[in-house]
Amino acid sequence: MTIDPRIAAAVNGENDEAAKAGTRPCLMNRRTFLLTGGVTTAVVMIGIPGLPEAQTPAVVATYPRKLITKLSSLKDDEPFDFEYPDEGQYAESILVKLGREAGGGVGPKSDVVAFNYTCTHQGGPLQGTYQAADKALGPCPLHLTTFDLTRHGIFISGQAYQSLPQVLLEVEGDDIYAVGMFGLIYGRFYNLQG
Ligand code: FES
Repeated sequence: MTIDPRIAAAVNGENDEAAKAGTRPCLMNRRTFLLTGGVTTAVVMIGIPGLPEAQTPAVVATYPRKLITKLSSLKDDEPFDFEYPDEGQYAESILVKLGREAGGGVGPKSDVVAFNYTCTHQGGPLQGTYQAADKALGPCPLHLTTFDLTRHGIFISGQAYQSLPQVLLEVEGDDIYAVGMFGLIYGRFYNLQG
């Protein structure tokens, strides 16, 4: 399929003076998203049919801010399990201090990361599969996919072709909060089921 170059330019912000000036990037890759925090409440102004002047804000996605654990309680390579963004199916997640800087990591060494526990291939349970030596999760008991926790949960081997959803974290004093998700949790149409 050929993409109209005018559409591509518009999508990439090439016709946008603010984007050209670097003051408002139109696209954000996964790394940038994570490094910048990634989670904001997206508000879109929607026009009301028949009332061209009227605009109303619509909240697209807001994740709960949830206290997970204390930074001081963590030891290298000792996973802490929790549920996020709710307590529904497939919400189980791992938080672990890798002892090595990682993509999206928080804490003084940027080595504390968190991921959903459900394999993105066919929903295999990854609980109990953390490998300290490789800083990886897996192999999945169903088809052996292993995910790299230092690189945003990208798959290293196996059948899955999507990264493990990463739980976005923030540190406030000694408290670690989950504040969002990057990636879609297996088995859900939306991460927030409402
Ligand atoms: S369900 Fe995990 S590799 Fe298939």
